[in-house]
Amino acid sequence: MKKLKIGDLEKIREKVAKTRVLREGKARARVTVHMGTCGIAAGARDILTTLMEEIEKKKVKDVIVTTSGCAGLCSREPMATVELIDKPPVKYVDLTPEKIKKIFAEHIMKGNVVTEYALAVGSETTH
Ligand code: FES
Repeated sequence: MKKLKIGDLEKIREKVAKTRVLREGKARARVTVHMGTCGIAAGARDILTTLMEEIEKKKVKDVIVTTSGCAGLCSREPMATVELIDKPPVKYVDLTPEKIKKIFAEHIMKGNVVTEYALAVGSETTH
């Protein structure tokens, strides 16, 4: 894995902010990628990048991507939480770019929770 530089983080932040502004107000889904120290070390940046690429590729306009800090579960990073409108949040753990692609296609686009990658459904929001 490439070493993360401060500049990279800034770029990610800018990209996320841009997406957020674009999407605000008409979202049906929100995806939060946990970017705490261990999340980044475990590859959260690749998860975020893959997710944003999928969103761009499919020209999806109603999904908000945000980042958050530590989720308190170092050993299960990278993690992301998916929230669809009126549905309990689902926390996904041990993510890889392939897994987030499947979660995007199945859960975010079709509303089917990918239970094999999910840690927990409902019970809390993460931010
Ligand atoms: S830095 Fe690992 S769970 Fe917070």
